[in-house]
Amino acid sequence: MADFSKITSDFLNKIKDSSSLEDLLVVETSLLGRNGIINTLLKDLRTIPSEKRKEFGQSVNSLKKILASSLEERKQILMRTDDKTGYEDITLPGEKYPRGSIHLISMAVEEIGRIFEKIGFIRVSYPEVEYEFFSFESLNMPKTHAARDDFETTFIDAPEHPKYGKMLLTPHTSSGQIREMWRTKTPPIRMINMAKTYRPNWDATHTPMFFQFEGLCVDRNINITHLKGTLDYFVKEYFGRDIQARLRPHHFQFTEPSFEVDVTCTVCKGTSKIDGQKCRVCKSGWLELGGTGMVHPNVLTAGNIDPDKYSGWAFGFGIERVIMMKYGIDDIRNYYTGDVRFLEQF
Ligand code: DAH
Repeated sequence: MADFSKITSDFLNKIKDSSSLEDLLVVETSLLGRNGIINTLLKDLRTIPSEKRKEFGQSVNSLKKILASSLEERKQILMRTDDKTGYEDITLPGEKYPRGSIHLISMAVEEIGRIFEKIGFIRVSYPEVEYEFFSFESLNMPKTHAARDDFETTFIDAPEHPKYGKMLLTPHTSSGQIREMWRTKTPPIRMINMAKTYRPNWDATHTPMFFQFEGLCVDRNINITHLKGTLDYFVKEYFGRDIQARLRPHHFQFTEPSFEVDVTCTVCKGTSKIDGQKCRVCKSGWLELGGTGMVHPNVLTAGNIDPDKYSGWAFGFGIERVIMMKYGIDDIRNYYTGDVRFLEQF
């Protein structure tokens, strides 16, 4: 007697393996055609002893049913994908193309820009390929000063400028301070400079190219309270109403006094505990945001601004860093590997 289960599995495989409607038609003919397996089996029915005939007939029928439905299913799939047929089912839903999204750094640049524009700051951008003078000398960092080592720098193989020195990839947006002072000539200055910056590091918290945003405010009678008020405003707008800023004394060549800014840890909300355990993101409930201070008189002088008449403050923060703090991203390299599964979440 015929081996029904073998016939079934053989045909199911042939159906599955048919990669075009043409192939499938060959399988269909060998199954349901005049000389196909079903008809051959039915012809055999006559030779089957009468007591087994009923069972045999039922088996042929169920075999036919299973294979016919599998054939139909495969046919539907191939009709959609086998373009040799010229068959087009206009009732099928259209193919969706993946849609891109704005990169999270571009979004942050816009968001930060809007926050400062609301309080009268002007967005500017200055060269990424800069002269030493704007990145260092004018910022109170003479050639021999050790502070320059903190800003490992990539130099450009280009002729030196007689006054401004070597060309480099600017290691911080602070280079825009002098350019902005020169551009505006007389205060008031309210600048927000967002740009690419470069330092040769590559690990979980550093990429050789990264973004900074630099704020600069110069006017008559500007003091630390204006700085603190602006920072408070920024952190509440960007991170949320429950986040606070604090200033911690520090040293930078281009500011005096200088501070580092900390903000309430966005994860534990400053409690330094999560479910009774120590918060793993921050130390003591605060996260470090970046550097700030009152603009050094030498810097104002380099910018042709009289330090006896005017004063100002400045800050410089990393854009990748503020995004990391806001969303709890733990590896900066995620921004630049182009992995859509990461990018599409924003
Ligand atoms: N330029 C500094 C850096 O990249 C950050 C900075 C510190 C900018 C203090 C400032 C400032 O404007 O006042 O590390």
